[in-house]
Amino acid sequence: MAETAFPKGFLWGGAIAANQAEGAYQAGGKGLSTVDMIPHGENRLGVKLGVDKRFELRADEFYPSHQAIDFYHRYKDDIALMAEMGFTVFRTSIAWSRIFPKGDETTPNAEGIAFYRDMFAECKKHNIEPLVTLCHFDVPMHLVQEYGSWRNRKMVEFFSRYARTCFEAFDGLVKYWLTFNEINIMLHSPFSGAGLVFEAGDNKEQVMYQAAHHELVASALVTKIAHEVNPQNQVGCMLAGGNFYPYSCKPEDVWAALEKDRENLFFIDVQARGAYPAYAARMFREKGIEIVTEPGDNEILKNTVDFVSFSYYASRCASADMNEGNTNPANIIKSLKNPHITFSQWGWGIDPLGLRITMNMMYDRYQKPLFLVENGLGAKDEVNAKGEINDDYRISYLREHIKAMGEAIEDGIPVMGYTSWGCIDLVSASTGEMSKRYGFVYVDRDDEGKGTLARTPKKSFHWYKKVIASNGGDLE
Ligand code: BG6
Repeated sequence: MAETAFPKGFLWGGAIAANQAEGAYQAGGKGLSTVDMIPHGENRLGVKLGVDKRFELRADEFYPSHQAIDFYHRYKDDIALMAEMGFTVFRTSIAWSRIFPKGDETTPNAEGIAFYRDMFAECKKHNIEPLVTLCHFDVPMHLVQEYGSWRNRKMVEFFSRYARTCFEAFDGLVKYWLTFNEINIMLHSPFSGAGLVFEAGDNKEQVMYQAAHHELVASALVTKIAHEVNPQNQVGCMLAGGNFYPYSCKPEDVWAALEKDRENLFFIDVQARGAYPAYAARMFREKGIEIVTEPGDNEILKNTVDFVSFSYYASRCASADMNEGNTNPANIIKSLKNPHITFSQWGWGIDPLGLRITMNMMYDRYQKPLFLVENGLGAKDEVNAKGEINDDYRISYLREHIKAMGEAIEDGIPVMGYTSWGCIDLVSASTGEMSKRYGFVYVDRDDEGKGTLARTPKKSFHWYKKVIASNGGDLE
């Protein structure tokens, strides 16, 4: 077998999220969640940012999450395809509003629990470890309307009850857990990230950092609960990763990049180190933010995560004079366009070495095992006359990133596994499109929701199967 940097038992697989794959948005007693209110099209961004308040569905809009790829009804066949590729891990999320349709109930919805039990059992049947995110961009709408979502301290109680319910109901089936997907995204896309909607006159940063405090307390509490329910449980935080490079070596640009990194790493600093970082006090003071805390919060925050997971699509770039006018409009986390790298069809940077740089920084900073739980290329695919999808561009992107991850392992970093994003085509979180495809498996569905939903393995499916079989030794 070819030489490999990857340790024995390294977990190989792919990732999806309930809100982008399951569809069946009202089946089995599910309540409406934030993502169900986010339309495709020109109104999408305003709703995601929390400035266009959307509490009612509109007849003139299309909501891609409502049917998505119908994973809810097709998960057995889809998981069988993943097993065929040799997956040893499969990342998905639980839709909170399937378990607690409104979010503030005390008794869970039995149908929701049964659905996930069956799905996780199906994974186990194929010797696939589920890696489960408790909250991936979906908060029950009732909690948004009644309580203001994470603005409200009561969310800590609701989320803890939901998490405990999951740990108990899926004990023995799931041992790898993530609390909040890309927790730092709440600063950049507040409604989709944390169910936040702004009112006129709000100090947005005050609202977001107060919500962040509640999520951080909830995440720490839930980590503790997970360990109490079963000491075998391993809980991770999850960062939308990618280091900021200084645009030049001008000291002001270097400082700008450091500050931009801190803005995102702030969350992980708390979750992985157990306390607010030293720089937070000055940042809050200068932004005029006052965080309301409760006695005991500092103790709760000491429940740090077992591992640090992250997504990596590209590195970022900052300068002292960056502003709305000169940043790359393609990214929700604002970044200058790096002239030294190439870009995807959606304007996202392609920078495999940036992955190695990011992983080294994160391990230097946290000294906890890393898990790369999202990485991939969103691209347009074409089905040729023979019905094949020859996605060499995707293979090449993944190959270079897996190589870079191998280098990071050789650098001495413990890495638990790799789940490429959107292992089966699904709805794009940023644009709501289906045509922004990441999968090894093609799904016949277009941006308007038309198509048979039939599944077809792409060329990358067969390539990834070899990668897994050789434990990352054969990347050709
Ligand atoms: C991450 C999210 O931000 O990136 C996923 O956790 C998302 O939910 C993925 O789908 C890729 O982004 P997009 O916008 O191309 O779907």
